[in-house]
Amino acid sequence: MGQPTPARTRVTGSAAAEGTGTDWWRSAVIYQVYVRSFADGDGDGTGDLAGVRARLPYLAQLGVNALWFNPWYRSPMKDGGYDVADYRAVDPAFGTLAEAEKLIAEARQLGIRTIIDIVPNHVSDQHTWFRAALAGGPERELFHFRPGRGEHGELPPNSWVSQFGGPAWTRVGEGEWYLHLFAPEQPDLNWAHPVVREEHEEVLRFWFERGVAGVRIDSAAMAAKDPVLPDFVEDRDPHPYVDRDELHDIYRSWRRVADEYGGVFVGEVWLPDTERFVRYLRPDELHTAFNFSFLSCPWDPVRLRESIDVTLAEHAPVGAPATWVLCNHDVTRTVTRYGRADTGFDFATKAFGTPTDLALGTRRARAAALLSLALPGAVYLYQGEELGLPEADIPRDRIQDPMYFRSGGTDPGRDGCRVPLPWAAAEPYAGFGPGGEPGGEPWLPQPAGWAAYAADLQADDPGSMLSLYRTAVRLRSTEPGFGDGPLSWLAAPASVLSFARADGLICVVNLGPEAADLPAHSRLLLASGPLDDDGRLPEDTAAWLRA
Ligand code: GLC
Repeated sequence: MGQPTPARTRVTGSAAAEGTGTDWWRSAVIYQVYVRSFADGDGDGTGDLAGVRARLPYLAQLGVNALWFNPWYRSPMKDGGYDVADYRAVDPAFGTLAEAEKLIAEARQLGIRTIIDIVPNHVSDQHTWFRAALAGGPERELFHFRPGRGEHGELPPNSWVSQFGGPAWTRVGEGEWYLHLFAPEQPDLNWAHPVVREEHEEVLRFWFERGVAGVRIDSAAMAAKDPVLPDFVEDRDPHPYVDRDELHDIYRSWRRVADEYGGVFVGEVWLPDTERFVRYLRPDELHTAFNFSFLSCPWDPVRLRESIDVTLAEHAPVGAPATWVLCNHDVTRTVTRYGRADTGFDFATKAFGTPTDLALGTRRARAAALLSLALPGAVYLYQGEELGLPEADIPRDRIQDPMYFRSGGTDPGRDGCRVPLPWAAAEPYAGFGPGGEPGGEPWLPQPAGWAAYAADLQADDPGSMLSLYRTAVRLRSTEPGFGDGPLSWLAAPASVLSFARADGLICVVNLGPEAADLPAHSRLLLASGPLDDDGRLPEDTAAWLRA
């Protein structure tokens, strides 16, 4: 790894980290915490809230403005907590509600806001509603139960396929079938029922009352269904369960709840049609949504520039800030993706044994970090991205993700990006838990060499990924020219992305083999790798400058 040129070191305390008042979310750096794999406070091999609380100083030092927590509620963990059994309880493996309250308050003391994750599309099959539904109660109407087709009802009610593979329906004994767009343990809710709407607004209030600043909405474009539940027909509009118009009314009423508390939303909206996508971001709906077009974009100057331009152009009319995301708990880790022949991301092309050049991927990921942190809007970092962690190969007998099982073992699933973090190189299990006592083995195995990525090693190495992120996030927070605001492209060769932000800030990213000249009359603030002997920017390297 190259040694970056030292940046200006004017670093302020929590006031800078806190962001600017009520509009903090328009330019925030938000760190995603997958609690199960972040830090293990009690030594049982599973990450927990105690582990997060102990690491808050690390997060403050990184300079992030908010934490987005994947679901921490009571759950049988059939889909890593996205099978919620009780929204008003924290899973005992993670801690208690009182601890969550303490965590929210302690983070806020450090200038860090909390974003929780709400999963409107479905609940766990252990949720009291679904148990009551199976027992024949009126709660049945809160789900989608239907008689099967075929002479004896032995065929699913329609042709829908689960997002994890296999049919989207499961039969209860010899009786009716219920719909689940994900795993069978995640029955879909019936959003046409007023009780479903009321309950979710109560859940929002429950957590806003406890001090959360925002809510990530899981599978946000999938909750509403065509009431007829027709067969799926390719290209028929409207889709029976994706991006249905009814959703907008639901999110408008969520917005009214959020506005009472100054809370903000970020939607998980995977839609290829950007015009449809930004409809969720109209002023009375969601504040922001994840930019999956940027996340999926290959490491290619033309495609990246197009992705940035389309993003900015589509967000402008609704007045919503863009978000910039390189990875999360569902997708291949950035250094691995950028080290492959196909540098884009697509669930359909994931496979075991894809050749990967990690040195190349890491160089590009460093450049991509400076690119995304220089773009207008909010930036999401996924835990371990700041350590440059690669996607891990999980031995097949240790895989837990339902995507692997429901694909019949062809899709490696998502566990490879969910491996417990390495904190201390010399400790057992790279310091994931307190002391490596018996039973402390991490819930997913850490691959050989994981300790080399440990945060404590990287903290002392100015050339490490962690040092690059710390410097870049800090610099961004002290430079109001970054974050929300205008961007203008500067003249540059076809393989170079060069743009100006406010206050004379410039970002240059070279994706081509020829070294690139840096803009004249500019001062280098930070680079993702060393410049060449002539002071030019080498391939797969990015620089921040001031004109
Ligand atoms: C979202 C989550 C993913 C989960 C799915 C079902 O896509 O990010 O992890 O499996 O929804 O809740």
